[in-house]
Amino acid sequence: MFPGPLGQSLAGRALETGAWMLDISDIREAAQDKHRSVDDTPFGGGAGMVLRPDVLDAAIGPDDERPLLYLSPRGRALTQARAAGLAAGPGVRLLCGRYEGVDQRLLDARGAEEVSIGDYVLSGGEPAALVLLDACVRLLPGVMGAVESAQEESFSAGLLEYPQYTRPAEWQGRPVPAVLLSGHHAAIAAWRREQAEQLTRTRRPDLWRVRMDNAATAP
Ligand code: ADE
Repeated sequence: MFPGPLGQSLAGRALETGAWMLDISDIREAAQDKHRSVDDTPFGGGAGMVLRPDVLDAAIGPDDERPLLYLSPRGRALTQARAAGLAAGPGVRLLCGRYEGVDQRLLDARGAEEVSIGDYVLSGGEPAALVLLDACVRLLPGVMGAVESAQEESFSAGLLEYPQYTRPAEWQGRPVPAVLLSGHHAAIAAWRREQAEQLTRTRRPDLWRVRMDNAATAP
């Protein structure tokens, strides 16, 4: 599954140029018995299998300065701020499991932080790891151009992005908003701001509230 889609496009080019790198370990290679088993039935009964702590511990290897993140729907939700923090750090070690789980003792012993990419359940952590990596890699220095970086700041400022238009100026009877053709930079900026605020208020009242709270407490 790795690098999967991250071997393409922006992240793929950055992987080729060495802006980031990926080391993949197959948990099965750390298995200690002749059947190469990595999981077992849960103590206490129940459906599914649980990844063994001893096998995972061997697969992860010694601790280093990189945080160990376990992708799980039980984790704290990934945010843009968290992605930016991770991108600015020494790297990450990502543990991908099956949803039924990983022996809790491994998470406790390694101080793993659980991270979720949203309130839905995937069959495994790998697609979530790809999402997390994509969100981080695009923030690495030199990976994206100045234009995208500017847009990035707009999301970081807690607003959804304003709508974009390109040629033709009229399509299927739908004209582009006139202000965008006016050449009036201040008016365009004001319109975009207004649109971004309106979208955020109506679609994401949760983000809007955070923004209002921040504005109220700003010095
Ligand atoms: N593994 C399964 N579901 C997940 C989710 N929503 N986020 C992160 N990891 C997961």
